[in-house]
Amino acid sequence: MFKIISIVGARPQFVKSAVVTKAIADSNKKAGREKIREILVHTGQHYDYNMNDIFFRQLSLKRPDYNLGVGSASHGRQTARMIEGIEKILLKERPGLVLVYGDTNSTLAGALAAKKLNILLAHVEAGLRSYNRSMPEEVNRVVVDRISDILFCPSKRARQNLLNEGIYCLGKNDYPKVSIVGDVMYDALLFYCGIARRKSAILARLSLQKGGYYLATVHRAANTDNMDNLRQIISALGDIADSDSPVVFSVHPRTKKAISSIKIGNLSSRLIMIDPVSYLDMMVLEANAKVILTDSGGVQKEAVFLKVPCVTLRDETEWVETVSSGYNILAGAKKERIKKALSKAKNLKVRPFNVYGNGKAGLKIAGMIRGLAKN
Ligand code: UD1
Ligand code: UDP
Repeated sequence: MFKIISIVGARPQFVKSAVVTKAIADSNKKAGREKIREILVHTGQHYDYNMNDIFFRQLSLKRPDYNLGVGSASHGRQTARMIEGIEKILLKERPGLVLVYGDTNSTLAGALAAKKLNILLAHVEAGLRSYNRSMPEEVNRVVVDRISDILFCPSKRARQNLLNEGIYCLGKNDYPKVSIVGDVMYDALLFYCGIARRKSAILARLSLQKGGYYLATVHRAANTDNMDNLRQIISALGDIADSDSPVVFSVHPRTKKAISSIKIGNLSSRLIMIDPVSYLDMMVLEANAKVILTDSGGVQKEAVFLKVPCVTLRDETEWVETVSSGYNILAGAKKERIKKALSKAKNLKVRPFNVYGNGKAGLKIAGMIRGLAKN
């Protein structure tokens, strides 16, 4: 039996790890025994019901074996607490591999704790770069990729980014090993999309017509911690709601806090601000939106996968293929640019898009882990 530890903590990581956990369980079933034992460690970075529990309940995810309950704090303090907690678990469990996902502080903490104990480290979503080092996630990506032994890239471009930084396979039996497996979030979308259509009642609950509204999400530090950016984004969403169609705005807790600290005047009644919704509800909101406006990495891709045009409320993105395909427009955070980008996006017809694999990323990752299990 080969023991691995997967580290999660933030909303998108619950979705990403679900795909790999399922592929590992399926692989064990096929082998007729528990060839790979996965232990799930939740750092507790996200903890509100609708940022955390709802994902585990609704998607029937594996329950975490450990929850560190770290919660919110400054970057240094939050990451340090995570490292301390993860280290204790690693010393107790002695896994053969640690698996980390994406680019959050939970990813960074898991990676550092593992490598300092000389444990094999695998990074899912390796090689992404926004080339903006003022973005906390970019720092996490660069550090985690640098110290990872196994790098699972979602695209050719991601692998090229690693090669450009001198991270490449030296030989068949050497580390680091870099491979393109596709995007686990695409696997998740394919798996849950039909279930979402059957189960979600979100459109009726919000009295929305299919194709009759826009969908927005905002949570990046560059937008929530910069009051001018936040004001301009909210003002743009209000104008769009007033002059065109209602805008459903799923408000991240970080954004809710930031909004409550600024004066933004009267908001349009057609700007429908809601608490974060479940993944299944989000799928349905995304699939039926006219255009999605977002600064989320995951939501940009989901828009394009669901053939909905996207306006990204940032100046750059690490998911560059969504932009080069023409289906995602970078608009930054200034009101007039956002409105102009939306006018353009409304006329886009998104065609099938598969640079992020064929929905088998989870299977490929599980297959490689199986290869590490000696018996
Ligand atoms: C984190 C990740 C980001 C990811 C996002 C997914 C880092 C540096 N950032 O950003 O890459 O895109 O998760 O959503 O790891 N809060 C709550 N309840 C919660 C969680 C957070 O109220 O359950 C509030 C707290 O005020 C907290 C703030 O949100 O201080 C920010 O949370 P944090 O986890 O530090 O970063 P995110 O902005 O969520
Ligand atoms: N998401 C969700 N409910 C919401 C907003 C987002 O389930 O109200 C999902 C979304 O569909 C995607 C993931 O959360 O799968 C993206 O997470 P987030 O935007 O928080 O982080 P990022 O992808 O930017 O790291």
